[in-house]
Amino acid sequence: MAMHFLSFRHLIVWICFILVFIFLSLKTVIIHQNNGIYSTSSFSNSKFQNSIRKDKFLEVPQIVWGLNNQKIAFARACLTARFLNRSLLMPSLSSSLFYKEIDLLESISFDKVFQYERFNSLCHGFVHLSRYSELINDTEPFELRKGSGRKWTKERDMNQLAECSEYSIDKFEVIRIVGKNPFLWHDHWSVVEYAKIFECLAFVEEIQNEATKVVSKIQEFSFNATSRNFSNTNQSVPYLAVHMRIEKDWMIHCKKLEQRLSINQICSSKQEIMQKVKHIRGVNKPIIVYLAIADGLLADDSILIGWEEGLIPCEKKKLRVWDVYNKYSYLFRSAIDYEVCLRADVFVGNSFSTFSSLIVFERTEKMIKMGIKSSCDMNVGMASYAYNLKGENYDGPKSWMTDFSALSLESISYGTINISCDSKVL
Ligand SMILES: *[C@@H]1O[C@H](CO)[C@@H](O)[C@H](O)[C@H]1NC(C)=O
Ligand SMILES: *[C@@H]1O[C@H](CO)[C@@H](O)[C@H](O)[C@H]1NC(C)=O
Ligand SMILES: *[C@@H]1O[C@H](CO)[C@@H](O)[C@H](O)[C@H]1NC(C)=O
Ligand SMILES: *[C@@H]1O[C@H](CO)[C@@H](O)[C@H](O)[C@H]1NC(C)=O
Ligand SMILES: *[C@@H]1O[C@H](CO)[C@@H](O)[C@H](O)[C@H]1NC(C)=O
Ligand SMILES: *[C@@H]1O[C@H](CO)[C@@H](O)[C@H](O)[C@H]1NC(C)=O
Repeated sequence: MAMHFLSFRHLIVWICFILVFIFLSLKTVIIHQNNGIYSTSSFSNSKFQNSIRKDKFLEVPQIVWGLNNQKIAFARACLTARFLNRSLLMPSLSSSLFYKEIDLLESISFDKVFQYERFNSLCHGFVHLSRYSELINDTEPFELRKGSGRKWTKERDMNQLAECSEYSIDKFEVIRIVGKNPFLWHDHWSVVEYAKIFECLAFVEEIQNEATKVVSKIQEFSFNATSRNFSNTNQSVPYLAVHMRIEKDWMIHCKKLEQRLSINQICSSKQEIMQKVKHIRGVNKPIIVYLAIADGLLADDSILIGWEEGLIPCEKKKLRVWDVYNKYSYLFRSAIDYEVCLRADVFVGNSFSTFSSLIVFERTEKMIKMGIKSSCDMNVGMASYAYNLKGENYDGPKSWMTDFSALSLESISYGTINISCDSKVL
């Protein structure tokens, strides 16, 4: 009897022990999930936490060009400030799109496009943005001129940055970088570091609301076209988004690029894109295909013709949202389109487009959080494809996930044919 009693007590102790163990393991798992994909990388919880100085600043030149060039340039400026252990003075973005006539660029403050407070709270301890009103001393900044030309190597650029930590320069309240727009600076940071910055960036509510309006128009259009009423269910309307780069200036640019790099997988015609999209597997047809295209192409109705049965194309004009877009600047229009593509069930873009690449980047991040690390030849949640490349074993487009192990953002900012259907996350 006593023996039995003893083992019963043992049993209780063991059960308690096991419960505590399970509780602790679950806790670890949950904490890891909260940290997302960065939990394994060296900088979370690292010695750099909370060490960004709030009384030393970095100022950068106005950020220019396309929305996603601007995002990359902004992130590079943040990472440079982080390297110098300084806060970044909130930079100016450009709301108009010019590549050469720099004087025509209309500047717009960062906080008119992205949520400022949210950025600082999410990126707390990693990087910090400051307003000009936070400057304390009205002293002259130290001007740091970035070199240029072929002799200005990545190593020289890094040495120049490293020298700024010396007291003679570091004593300045503000280091002002003059010269090139940050998109053109040498890149010294890895994809996960960029990911950390992008994760802190959210468009202001106005942009998000406009995107939601467009998505609800897609829903209405879907009902008109298929008689499937998704507002009856809590399921959102599925749609496919295609970022079609076929406008004239792009065609000229991509042909030149093909010649220079001696590859023929950069440009795709309208017909080639339609062919690739038609072959994507596992898509429940009929389905709406939202075409993200340059404004100039909206006049050309032929873009809506020739799609395979079951793929129902629409663009801003067809959705009757052109007036919504039209009242905004280039940057806002592009941001709305970006959000609509980001939320699509399937996204198809061009691996030589920064716009496409950053959408895939963010979608890959979402997939990793859903536990999907690879999308090779499977149509898994939030799948993305590149139509300029052929799929592995079929006529469809190539499955595309961002390689999170890459050491530089080069392939994402300038484009590559070497894309993978595997995120290679650690
Ligand atoms: C950054 O500055 C803070 C405050 O002066 C300091 O505590 C920290 O060690 C510095 N970190 C680096 C990496 O220089
Ligand atoms: C800023 O001004 C304060 C007060 O005048 C002074 O003590 C401090 O040394 C100045 N800092 C810099 C970096 O010039
Ligand atoms: C759907 O059809 C209705 C009625 O014909 C029309 O008023 C509405 O504009 C259509 N919506 C879209 C997005 O095509
Ligand atoms: C779709 O469903 C919603 C919710 O049940 C309903 O309010 C709406 O009238 C329906 N739309 C059409 C066009 O039947
Ligand atoms: C949608 O979700 C709401 C709340 O989550 C629920 O009350 C409602 O019954 C759902 N409707 C359908 C059609 O599933
Ligand atoms: C393609 O990328 C992989 C890693 O993502 C790399 O190992 C390989 O060398 C690259 N190939 C080319 C041709 O650049």
